[in-house]
Amino acid sequence: MISTAVSHPNKAIVIYWGNSDDELNLPSRTSLSMTLQGIERPLDYTATLQTSSGLDRDRVIVDGVEDKGQIYSDIVRQLDAMRKLTEFRQKLVVSTKATFPIGSGLAGSAAAASAIAEAFAGLIRVHLDKKTISILSRRGSGSAARSVFGGFVKLPVGTDEQSAAVQLYDENHWDLRDVIAVVDPGLKKVKSRDGMRMTTRSCPPEIYSGFVAASETHSSDAEAAIGSKDLQKLGEVYESDNAYFREVCMNTEPVLDYWSKSTADVFNAVSELQNEGLAIFAGTDAGPNVHIFCESRDSMRLIDMLHGLQGVVDIIHCKPGGPSISTEAHLM
Ligand code: DP6
Repeated sequence: MISTAVSHPNKAIVIYWGNSDDELNLPSRTSLSMTLQGIERPLDYTATLQTSSGLDRDRVIVDGVEDKGQIYSDIVRQLDAMRKLTEFRQKLVVSTKATFPIGSGLAGSAAAASAIAEAFAGLIRVHLDKKTISILSRRGSGSAARSVFGGFVKLPVGTDEQSAAVQLYDENHWDLRDVIAVVDPGLKKVKSRDGMRMTTRSCPPEIYSGFVAASETHSSDAEAAIGSKDLQKLGEVYESDNAYFREVCMNTEPVLDYWSKSTADVFNAVSELQNEGLAIFAGTDAGPNVHIFCESRDSMRLIDMLHGLQGVVDIIHCKPGGPSISTEAHLM
């Protein structure tokens, strides 16, 4: 049996940061994101899962080369969690391919774990709805629960059953752009999974609990702003959620300073354009790259400005992407 799926990364507008249960990856905050598709080049993550007789352990092939390190362990952890939730017991060969760098703060783990869950759903031949696939994705990576859906997506807090993503608006609702100023395409310093554990352990409760509580208002304000396509309102929510995220990271022990000098340079250049009246809004993930939201009509002016900044090594222009889908284009 063989099954393949393709999925895309997503960018949180209201960020996920911290679990109430690390084994089930149950988030402490409600989060909200836009699924991303590249305009000039695709942001696709493909995963093929295949059964094979005589396998006594899972095997993981990344871009044609067998991995026995971190990627292998992350994928096997998700496969084990998905097997535990279903009747499926067989060991698998997993082959993956991405058109963008994974582990560098471009939300690659979200695309990876959602593609693996979607392919797993196709393999086990039991009908699983998108809600269940979102829960299976969350086992691999919290933010992956959102990449199961296209467009604008919310992941509520709750029990294992309740914390499944829901689509608010599909990818055709609003041609919002996320222009990613890549200042460092390398691996991030601290993985999100580890960083959020450090935060929940060490961030002063008065700061972290305020951040957790703010996720509800931020999510409902963001949802309303997306509904009415009000970029000013959405941008304000995005920037204040991001500033809160940074405060929490800077109050984590040891300090989680994901920014580099070039990150700050991009933020300064964005504020200059904002002062000139351009509606563009900047934030980061758990990494130094800057995600700037804007209307499609303003994206070229923003991109021209970013081309002039020395620390920007790449620019990825994204629009709302579609959901994770099954395909017959197997990698094996
Ligand atoms: C900062 O739970 O997806 O991107 O699996 O380690 O990548 P990893 O962590 P995950 O955390 C995502 C953290 C974030 C914010 C977000 O996407 O909401």
